[in-house]
Amino acid sequence: MSFRRLNRHHANLAAAHLDRAAANEAYPAALSSHASQNFHPETIAAQAGGVADSTTGGLVPPIHVASTFIRDADNQYRRGYCYGRADNATVRQVEGVLTDLEGGTATLLFGSGMAAATTALLSLQQPAHMVAPTAMYWGMRQWLTEEAPRHGLETTFVDASSPAALRAAVRPGRTRLVWVETPSNPLWTITDIAAAARVAHDAGALLAVDSTVSTPVLTRPLALGADLILHSATKYLNGHSDVVAGAIVFGEAGRAFEACARLRGTLGGVLGPFEAAQLLRGMRTLHVRVRHQSAAAMAIAQRFAGHPRIEQLLYPGLPSHPDHGVAARQMQGGFGGMLSMRLRGGETAAIAAAARMRVWRRATSLGGVESLVEHRASIEGPESPCPADLLRFSVGLENVDDLISDIEQAIGADHFEQSEA
Ligand SMILES: Cc1ncc(COP(=O)(O)O)c(C=O)c1O
Repeated sequence: MSFRRLNRHHANLAAAHLDRAAANEAYPAALSSHASQNFHPETIAAQAGGVADSTTGGLVPPIHVASTFIRDADNQYRRGYCYGRADNATVRQVEGVLTDLEGGTATLLFGSGMAAATTALLSLQQPAHMVAPTAMYWGMRQWLTEEAPRHGLETTFVDASSPAALRAAVRPGRTRLVWVETPSNPLWTITDIAAAARVAHDAGALLAVDSTVSTPVLTRPLALGADLILHSATKYLNGHSDVVAGAIVFGEAGRAFEACARLRGTLGGVLGPFEAAQLLRGMRTLHVRVRHQSAAAMAIAQRFAGHPRIEQLLYPGLPSHPDHGVAARQMQGGFGGMLSMRLRGGETAAIAAAARMRVWRRATSLGGVESLVEHRASIEGPESPCPADLLRFSVGLENVDDLISDIEQAIGADHFEQSEA
């Protein structure tokens, strides 16, 4: 997808609010597109799609802060911009890069991953039935359970690592969306995206994939048959724990895109230009970060699998993981930077081990340059299916030996002998 075509989609959108015929006549000058020249994703990301500022030649684009735009003398908006709640030029630049990284047709950026996800779901034709995984980001599950029914959205939760369970859960003609998250937070189960796409499409539904943990570096859901991709861009895409943002990438700029873009424009969930610029900066190093974090996570998983103080180590890169075969097929170049460990000694032992960590920082979230450890059940609450003895690890960019020795000292036999005494 070239930036020219992307800008055309946005101009068409502006036209919905303005004058469609006039907006179709002319579009903002297209940015040079690396994707249209078949450059590799690393090249697209590192050069932010090959952008250079048309006024100064700056290789870092300016931040467009205007909230309103000049109307042409004949009452049209030929430049494709009208008002900042619909979108802005900085947001469009980042959307263009992410579209090209995912091999999509259009992207919409939002003020958070949850804003992106909920806008996509609220834009479904109501009443709607959807299928979602039992193992998924807890905030999303909570919204689907507690809020979504008030908006005419009914959800059936299933084990999405089983295509048969997905097939049994869809209601042909009534299910509008199958939502999967792979790897899923915090158990890192894997959904076979191609199989899930077949199930969704056979039932007349769309498939949406939360690919936050995989990132376009490791998985390309659209190429496997998905229709929409969700990213909490707060995580790996930005990668520095200093932006909250979300994105939906569309395989086709059809009804789903139009409905979602219209709703973003009216609900006002668009990302601000400063955050968009910060996100673009983060995305330039996406590939080196994710590859390093995946390799380090694998080294940590291999070191602690079978450790006497660990009840179970959850990482899809290990051959012992039940979904390893599917993960190996649909993830390229690594299995991601997230893993979980269930500690012998239960919740008390897990919380105590996290408290002893000196390199791993005790905090929620994931995908940043600093490694994080979290006792996940504490944040998910009593309704959560997350085991109470589970610690979730987000691997950063520190020296992997420092990370391994920190876990070793935190779960080491000495502590257990003292607490067992
Ligand atoms: C897999 C996944 N999806 C979605 C979200 C929600 O994103 P945000 O916090 O940016 O709203 C999160 C947040 O932790 C997440 O981990």
